[in-house]
Amino acid sequence: MTTLSRSLCFSDAEQTAIYATRLARHLGSGDVILLSGDVGAGKTHFARSLIQSLLAEPEDIPSPTFTLVQTYETTGADIWHADLYRLTSAQEVEELGLIDAFATAICLVEWPDRLGLLTPPSALSLDFTTGQSPDARSVLATWQDPRWTETVTAW
Ligand SMILES: Nc1ncnc2c1ncn2[C@@H]1O[C@H](COP(=O)(O)OP(=O)(O)O)[C@@H](O)[C@H]1O
Ligand SMILES: [Mg+2]
Repeated sequence: MTTLSRSLCFSDAEQTAIYATRLARHLGSGDVILLSGDVGAGKTHFARSLIQSLLAEPEDIPSPTFTLVQTYETTGADIWHADLYRLTSAQEVEELGLIDAFATAICLVEWPDRLGLLTPPSALSLDFTTGQSPDARSVLATWQDPRWTETVTAW
């Protein structure tokens, strides 16, 4: 399968939030966004902004660093926000209910390398790296499912 890609630059945290909000409008049940990059790269900030934009009422959106998964109800699909940094085994992915969620919810997954073979091939990957200035982030979007092409091109 061909991997398609687009690189973007988010000049500051506010712009990252704007991009997250814009992507959110295109998401529905069964969409998986894989967020990779070092600690402090902006994965949680992106996820938090995306989730906030889909909630009917503002809610606290903690980082799932210790809980591994936080879930949110929206008027549309449920949102699962996962941080798999502390995952101990692939089996835990199933125990958390993530496999089902990949098919039914909007899933935002930090440290997706932990998924190994369980990585959904239809996911959109966003890889964050710190940029030229302290608040700039370079983001490489990659995907195989043609479903993302229009969304990312219009993004
Ligand atoms: N362009 C940017 N995009 C995202 N976060 C940014 C940006 N510029 C600065 N930041 C800051 O960087 C930090 C990123 O932290 P966080 O999102 O928790 O990272 P991660 O989840 O990747 O470890 C936040 O404090 C955020 O305000
Ligand atoms: Mg994080």
